[in-house]
Amino acid sequence: MKAIIIEDYAEFPDFKIVQDHPKPKQDALKDHQVLVRVHAAGINPGDCHMASGRVKMAVKLKFPCVLGLDASGVVSAVGKKVTQFKVGDLVCGGKAGAKTGTFAEYCVFEDHDLIKKPKDMDYNKAAAFATSGGTIIDAYRQHPLVESLLKKHIAHPEKMNEKPKEMEDFKVLVIGASGGTGSIALLFAKHYLAKYFNIKVYAVCSTRNVEYVKSLGADVVIDYTQTSAKDGTQEKHQESSELPSICELIKGENGDQYIDLVIDCVGGYYFYDDVCQHLDCRRADSHVVYSSLVPPGPAELTLSTLIRTGIYISSNKMKACSKKYPKYNLIQYMGKAQKEFDLLMNRVLSEGNCFNLIKITTFKMDEIKKAHEMVHSKRAIGKVVLSIE
Ligand SMILES: NC(=O)c1ccc[n+]([C@@H]2O[C@H](COP(=O)([O-])OP(=O)(O)OC[C@H]3O[C@@H](n4cnc5c(N)ncnc54)[C@H](OP(=O)(O)O)[C@@H]3O)[C@@H](O)[C@H]2O)c1
Repeated sequence: MKAIIIEDYAEFPDFKIVQDHPKPKQDALKDHQVLVRVHAAGINPGDCHMASGRVKMAVKLKFPCVLGLDASGVVSAVGKKVTQFKVGDLVCGGKAGAKTGTFAEYCVFEDHDLIKKPKDMDYNKAAAFATSGGTIIDAYRQHPLVESLLKKHIAHPEKMNEKPKEMEDFKVLVIGASGGTGSIALLFAKHYLAKYFNIKVYAVCSTRNVEYVKSLGADVVIDYTQTSAKDGTQEKHQESSELPSICELIKGENGDQYIDLVIDCVGGYYFYDDVCQHLDCRRADSHVVYSSLVPPGPAELTLSTLIRTGIYISSNKMKACSKKYPKYNLIQYMGKAQKEFDLLMNRVLSEGNCFNLIKITTFKMDEIKKAHEMVHSKRAIGKVVLSIE
């Protein structure tokens, strides 16, 4: 089959398109596995981390390696105990546990990694959201109010139409709002949580993305290039800075002392420290929740970065005993969230087809280097997808 392979770790791998990569054998499918003819594959920053070798301590690739976690396509064969899907079903999903392989014509998934593709979503869009969407739901559910809402709606989807008698205020701050995960975080707030809470969403991005982020529904957009965050995310805000910090703007210009949930899609020290320094982190019965997708410091996973990150996380968790600090969580999404992904795709993003608001940049297979460079740049807008002919 046609596949994109890499033969070694590299920051910018020498991607090769081969026609004769072994196709997964139908009769070798395990009981709960599904063979999918892939039509599109989503690209994630995680693919770049894996290809570079930076995280090989945790995810070792076997070469030649076909990268890719997310895909959409058509079911081509099913294992003996698969009951949710049949040959010919249109599906989408993400491979759990960093098991790669979607940058190819055929790919094997576990049945619980897939859902039926929403009817109005084309293959490119349906391939884009599995890993980013699952991660964002994980980040949101760290807040107890969101967790109980999700639990209720996953168990009883019909209850999604029930409105609360009184809507509580709920303020969200999304950092890195124009990227793949940030874009979904905004739609989740405005097209799901807004039905049950008085939602106010603050979104942080650079100047060129302000209009895009507004189009996703952000109530207040903060351009970080006009704040002390422009000096780098690995540095803390200096009180001596001539520019205000992001949270100083939230408190000063916008009059909000308290944010219920921070979703940090960028990482570093700056944003967490800014929340600690400039916002009130606890009210009578609630506590600011801080969900970070990215640990601070170098992206390379070594024993020393692992120890440093462990100490950072534990110390932030201990600090949360004090009302001056938020409840800190580092999200490590490993998939296996079929029901949550189904709710996101078939209920939230499909409502009024709001998924169309997220920018999708599609590349052909022979443009993989360009696609990889775009994701690697950390400046992609929305999601990047490979169309698999
Ligand atoms: N923990 C997990 O399980 C998990 C899962 C998925 C992703 N992630 C990680 O989450 C991060 C975000 O993923 P993504 O797919 O959203 O990435 P992305 O599409 O590359 O988006 C990154 C965003 O960060 C913004 N940004 C870059 N530099 C910035 C800075 N100095 N200050 C503020 N914003 C900055 C960019 O916006 P501008 O262009 O406007 O600057 C961009 O929109 C990645 O590091 C990824 O590896 C973690």
